[in-house]
Amino acid sequence: MNLEGNELQRPLCAVVLFGGMSSEHEVSRVSAGTFVTHIDREKYELLTVGITKEGRWLYTEATPAQMADGSWEELPGNMPCVLSPDRADHGMILFTPSGQVEKLHVDVVIPALHGLWGEDGTVQGLLELAGIPYVGCGVLASAACMDKAVANALFAQYGIPHCAWASYTRHQLKADSEGICARLEQQLGYPIFVKPANAGSSVGVSRAENRDELNGAIDLALAHDQKLVFESAVDGQEGECAVIGSEPSAVSTRPGEILAGAEFYTYDDKYKNGVSQVVIPARLSEEKLDEVKELARKAYTALGCEGLARCDFFVERGTGRVLINEINTLPGFTPISMYPKLMEKEGLALPALIDRLIALALERAVALHG
Ligand SMILES: Nc1ncnc2c1ncn2[C@@H]1O[C@H](COP(=O)(O)OP(=O)(O)O)[C@@H](O)[C@H]1O
Ligand SMILES: [Mg+2]
Repeated sequence: MNLEGNELQRPLCAVVLFGGMSSEHEVSRVSAGTFVTHIDREKYELLTVGITKEGRWLYTEATPAQMADGSWEELPGNMPCVLSPDRADHGMILFTPSGQVEKLHVDVVIPALHGLWGEDGTVQGLLELAGIPYVGCGVLASAACMDKAVANALFAQYGIPHCAWASYTRHQLKADSEGICARLEQQLGYPIFVKPANAGSSVGVSRAENRDELNGAIDLALAHDQKLVFESAVDGQEGECAVIGSEPSAVSTRPGEILAGAEFYTYDDKYKNGVSQVVIPARLSEEKLDEVKELARKAYTALGCEGLARCDFFVERGTGRVLINEINTLPGFTPISMYPKLMEKEGLALPALIDRLIALALERAVALHG
């Protein structure tokens, strides 16, 4: 693929996917608006495809405001569409109101989707089959980072420090809840964080101080997943690094810091109240900032991330230990999101950042498929 040649011939057709069937559907609609607003229109022809909470794919010409408030779903011009896995199509099939089908060649896809069925390798798998370049991590890294139990096991394997943790399935918890709770109390000690293995945006996450709260936290988390992750609570600062690129040239920014408005960084705190604050760089010594940055790059590379990801850490009060929390392979791109803020601070404003992410997607496709 000759990018320079393409630039001269025609703008590349980029498709932003938004919405999706996860608990982060609403956040994704706002993230997608950032791509729509800031992509370089001279270079890219941009199309948008919304995925409803029920999983219907609709080609839409909605504005970012209509995407954000949800009214996009009802627009009369929307057309059902599918992304064809057939490499000869290399794009979308639209079902027009007159009952015809229309093929649409797509050069690159930006999956602005968060959580299950978007950030977890499923959409990435479809795009691999289709042979269409896409922004972000491949199937394996997406899936591994989505599942907190798998990610934690890999962190351990690759020597990336993490707090004490355990994982149990619904089946195990139903069979011996008392025994497991007793073991968790002994192994982790209160407070214990309880999380669905596969979720995001703090949905289903809670902090338990005693057995009663632990049981409540398990019930809540089980409403979101079949597998749970338990972690000893880290008392410390919460930092996030933006990583871009692919091995061997992945680079991380220094961390920004989250000052949570609530007891921890909850969904409402992230997106609704506007109480949490972001400090860039994090309030850490120069050496600590560099240590976190280096660990972010190491974790990103260890889990096979490509394109972009946000690596989240705790820096423990007192000991100064840096512990990884998680890697988000499709981090938020809302106006208050950390990833674009960190990148901008280091000189990559949104239009250039999006351009770079697309260039990485195209380079990856060339490396994989020629
Ligand atoms: N082990 C932990 N110690 C302290 N705080 C935690 C721990 N795990 C999670 N948290 C808090 O809960 C928030 C959400 O948990 P996280 O694992 O990041 O899930 P999500 O994928 O939903 O963002 C974190 O941003 C942090 O504030
Ligand atoms: Mg998180």
